[in-house]
Amino acid sequence: MTRLFDVAAIRKEFPILTREVNGKPLVYLDNAASAQKPDAVIDAIANQSRTAYANVHRGIHTLSNETTEAYEAGREAARDFFNAPGTDNIIFTKGATEGINLVASALAETIQPGDEIVLSVMEHHSNIVPWHFLRERQGAVLRWVGLNDDGSLDMDAMRAAIGPKTRMVAISHMSNVLGTVNDVAEIGRIAHAAGARVLADGCQAAVHLGVDVQALGCDWYVFSGHKLYGPTGIGILYGTSGALAEARPYQGGGEMIETVAMDRITYNEAPHKFEAGTPPILEAIGLGAAIRWFRQFDQAEVQAHEHALYQRAREGLRGVDGLTVHGEASGKGSVLAFSLQGAHPHDLAQILDRYGVAIRAGHHCAQPLMTHLGVSATARASFGIYNTEAEVDVFIEALEKARGMLV
Ligand SMILES: Cc1ncc(COP(=O)(O)O)c(C=O)c1O
Repeated sequence: MTRLFDVAAIRKEFPILTREVNGKPLVYLDNAASAQKPDAVIDAIANQSRTAYANVHRGIHTLSNETTEAYEAGREAARDFFNAPGTDNIIFTKGATEGINLVASALAETIQPGDEIVLSVMEHHSNIVPWHFLRERQGAVLRWVGLNDDGSLDMDAMRAAIGPKTRMVAISHMSNVLGTVNDVAEIGRIAHAAGARVLADGCQAAVHLGVDVQALGCDWYVFSGHKLYGPTGIGILYGTSGALAEARPYQGGGEMIETVAMDRITYNEAPHKFEAGTPPILEAIGLGAAIRWFRQFDQAEVQAHEHALYQRAREGLRGVDGLTVHGEASGKGSVLAFSLQGAHPHDLAQILDRYGVAIRAGHHCAQPLMTHLGVSATARASFGIYNTEAEVDVFIEALEKARGMLV
């Protein structure tokens, strides 16, 4: 049953939100970097550790079976959340970064010099650097797609960039800086018509949009649990059965093999083929708890709440002299990156911290985007399920004070 969306009640489930920072109530607006954890997640990990912990998939004994059940329930929660056809399509990884490295290293085995990887300039470094490895080591060519003035993807440039040499189009579903939401389904159609595969980086989108990987039609989709109120050290790599069958294992070890002899090995099926060694068991259980907790709420209500916070902040910033917002594409998510003339983002973030307000400042692991924007860094406020309108107002007031001190 869907739970009533009540921010005050939600906040009570996040113990950290009661703390103070520099003598002021914490206003946590760095959710795009990592979100806080509700009791449901903290307790799921603690209870499992206290009552039923053992290694998974290996034991005949009760504790191992119980732990395996809870661990696989995490996989099923992720399957359902992303609407993947089967749990075999869901690989547990350390996070989005590991997922992309896995896909890139599998592609490295078949890539030829001159083969092309298409990327957008708004990508996070984790969706850039693994492809640079293919450029450096295999002679692949990176083709970059630019942006329109409002921060939306230049789809004409995307169409022009994809061609017979394209092997992979790697694109963020939602930018962690601009908030831009990309049309992954359309990009997939263009890429597939050219015989290329598509990887979508869902780190931000999975939290703010509601994702159906089958409707998106991508071959690969990656995501990190810690941004969805879950633990660190756990993420999901979704792959279509075709993409998974084609990819060779990323790491070798226990669990991913079927047989090992002195002169030969045979591999287990997906997902185990890509999960060498003891997996992040408690983290996967915590991720399952986070997804189940998050899905109690009507997702449209959560999105409307975050959008309203974004709008309030956006309106508030209109009154701040010398302020530029980066990314105004229609349909953008609740991420607000900005620059204030005459003030370095780090100084802004430091002053806001004095008022208890946590925002991010830096290049946001998106240096090509910073180059495109003509800045070295920006400030960024990003909103989550537990943020309130009153917190947005504290943020705007603190920003005004910071401006007074710095400009
Ligand atoms: C869009 C995007 N992609 C990838 C990542 C990398 O995620 P992780 O560091 O959890 O692997 C992030 C994290 O900030 C992100 O926002």
